[in-house]
Amino acid sequence: MSNKKILIAFFSMTKDYSFGKVERLVKGHTEQVADQIAEITGSDLYRINRTEALRPERAYEPKPIENFDEYDIIYLGYPIYYHTMPLQVSEFLKSYPFENKVIIPFTTHAGSGLGRSVAEIKETCKKSEVLDGLAVGSAEVQSAKQKIKDWALKSLAEAESR
Ligand SMILES: Cc1cc2nc3c(=O)[nH]c(=O)nc-3n(C[C@H](O)[C@H](O)[C@H](O)COP(=O)(O)O)c2cc1C
Repeated sequence: MSNKKILIAFFSMTKDYSFGKVERLVKGHTEQVADQIAEITGSDLYRINRTEALRPERAYEPKPIENFDEYDIIYLGYPIYYHTMPLQVSEFLKSYPFENKVIIPFTTHAGSGLGRSVAEIKETCKKSEVLDGLAVGSAEVQSAKQKIKDWALKSLAEAESR
């Protein structure tokens, strides 16, 4: 296991969009990938987005990350919205001091792949390194487990060598 401190910060929303069908998709696609990476790497998970759920017990308000400085490696997960990351994720990147971190992006999407998102992360976080991202189609989140595992471990080894 890694000596470096790793955070998985993710935005995931689908379950809150599926009005009347909340039971159908208990977790968003990106959250499912984030969970898989957490299992593989044993790292902390942080949900970026507030969720205004249909049921109060499912609503979630993110608390600020108090020990952000301690994290060396940040897996950053989000769905693709309009060919890039959701606005809340851009705001997240601007609201923390992303200096001397290694950022590892991953996304779920419906056909756009990573879109412009990685270029946007590099533009916003100029003092951090941004590794190659992983794009997983929404429909292949469960069948891509091996691909996700291989990528997560390869990226981690690369991040640790920086
Ligand atoms: C507002 C909105 C905009 C979207 N724009 C795109 C897009 O430009 N390209 C794409 O491939 N998928 C797009 N999608 C599909 C999502 O990226 C995809 O369903 C993703 O897996 C959702 O992740 P989540 O379940 O973690 O929220 C969009 C979805 C929403 C809700």
